[in-house]
Amino acid sequence: MTMLAGYDVPRLGLGTLALAVEGRPSRETAIDVIHAALDAGTRYLDTAWSYYLPTVAGTGTPGDLGYGETLVRDALATWDGPRDQVLVATKTGWRRTWDPTTGRYGWKADARPETMAADARQSAQRLGVDTLDLLYSHCDDPQLPYVEQMEVLRDLVDAGVARYAGVSRVGAEDIDIARRILGDRLVAVQNMYSPAFLDPEGTFAHVRSLGLAFVCFSPLGGFLDPVDERAFAGFEEVARRRGCSRQRVVLAWELARDPGLFVIPSARSVAEAREDREAVGLRLTEDELATLPPYSADSAV
Ligand SMILES: NC(=O)c1ccc[n+]([C@@H]2O[C@H](COP(=O)([O-])OP(=O)(O)OC[C@H]3O[C@@H](n4cnc5c(N)ncnc54)[C@H](OP(=O)(O)O)[C@@H]3O)[C@@H](O)[C@H]2O)c1
Repeated sequence: MTMLAGYDVPRLGLGTLALAVEGRPSRETAIDVIHAALDAGTRYLDTAWSYYLPTVAGTGTPGDLGYGETLVRDALATWDGPRDQVLVATKTGWRRTWDPTTGRYGWKADARPETMAADARQSAQRLGVDTLDLLYSHCDDPQLPYVEQMEVLRDLVDAGVARYAGVSRVGAEDIDIARRILGDRLVAVQNMYSPAFLDPEGTFAHVRSLGLAFVCFSPLGGFLDPVDERAFAGFEEVARRRGCSRQRVVLAWELARDPGLFVIPSARSVAEAREDREAVGLRLTEDELATLPPYSADSAV
């Protein structure tokens, strides 16, 4: 267990992206998945204002907006465990797009101060809380100075909309801006990290040198875009010898890197959620770790 945003939680949480966007399972299955993760000991759920599926061109229909956050709210409301032990993080400043001619969904930054502030308040409403536990800026909106985006986040914490702040999809320069403006309000950086994406900008070391939590998103390589399977060959081999999934080995490898690192894998079935959770108890041996890739892109070259 490790402290994050005032909660003492295991470092393996549940990302709920795959339960709320393209390819999502039924709402009933999604709630079963969240319950299975919580029953197995997960105490950190990750969602976002933008976890929904637009069904008209643009940024979504009112019917589906908020799908992901209300899913988390409903799953918690129908769970018979200790709700007050569960850290729920959400994100603001990003929206969905849909092109009806190609049928393709996309994402679009919108971190204008008025959008960020309104969306964060809506997130709290949808999650059914007065104050969000942890509010991330979802990404740097290139149309606005990052300083301004961080000032909005700071003001949201000061106004009691969120207790703590995080930033996501950021490099060292943005992390430093966030730290300067948010001060102790900033507790976490959520960046992509997996065997298929070894943090080429070296943000992990920077985040940890500042004493912040590093939260790996897409820790299994993600599910929305194709992944380079070759990155997982060594993990397949350890998994074969251990008699478990490669996903369990990947998550255990990530958790073994550093005590300030969190992982938030998505799962689309109860079986996947339970399997992923087992990574918490998997201790890889020195010999096994030696067969796996180096942790950073720097040491890979
Ligand atoms: N901050 C950001 O911008 C950002 C961006 C992306 C994600 N995230 C966060 O990170 C979380 C995780 O990232 P992600 O959803 O991109 O991908 P991910 O966790 O790397 O991969 C999830 C996929 O891996 C497969 N999987 C999981 N456990 C498995 C198991 N035991 N056996 C076999 N397959 C398994 C599932 O695919 P199948 O369903 O096909 O089996 C699942 O959908 C998200 O839920 C979200 O909270 C944040």
